[in-house]
Amino acid sequence: MTKTGVAAAISAVIIAAAALVGWDTVSTPSSAPASTTALDGAALFRAKGCATCHTGPDSQALFLEFPNLSDAASFAGERRSGMSAEEYLTESIRVPNAFISPEFRPNGPTANMPTLNLSDAEIEALVSYLLSD
Ligand code: HEC
Repeated sequence: MTKTGVAAAISAVIIAAAALVGWDTVSTPSSAPASTTALDGAALFRAKGCATCHTGPDSQALFLEFPNLSDAASFAGERRSGMSAEEYLTESIRVPNAFISPEFRPNGPTANMPTLNLSDAEIEALVSYLLSD
């Protein structure tokens, strides 16, 4: 086999393997740049620990004293006057103690919500997940 033949055979194998594991080998059209792909809010809700403390749209919390977020769209816009649902949820996640939810039922040594290390994009994805219901 020639050198080019070997290279072609190797790339054929790589493409076949990529197809097997489901990689996207087709280049993304320029109208949909990969860098702006939305983060998965549902996955973040579990990965960042939110789901441990809060019941969410698709999960049940381990504790009942923390606010239930399964229907955040129904209350988020009403919590603080002058704040939209998006603004309120964003603030609640970025600066948890800026406002204490009336749905928090401290029970013994239960701590307040911790300030989590999240990027703006992650917070945005979480907020749209919570409001998507
Ligand atoms: C250790 C438990 C804990 C974790 C982890 C946690 N929270 Fe909280 N969260 C709380 C508590 C306690 C409150 C109520 C006190 C307050 O309002 O700050 C709260 C309040 C909130 C509120 C306001 C709810 C309302 O009724 O107004 C939102 C929204 C929220 N959390 C979202 C999140 C998201 C999203 C995550 C994950 C990135 C998260 N929380 C992680 C404990 C937690």
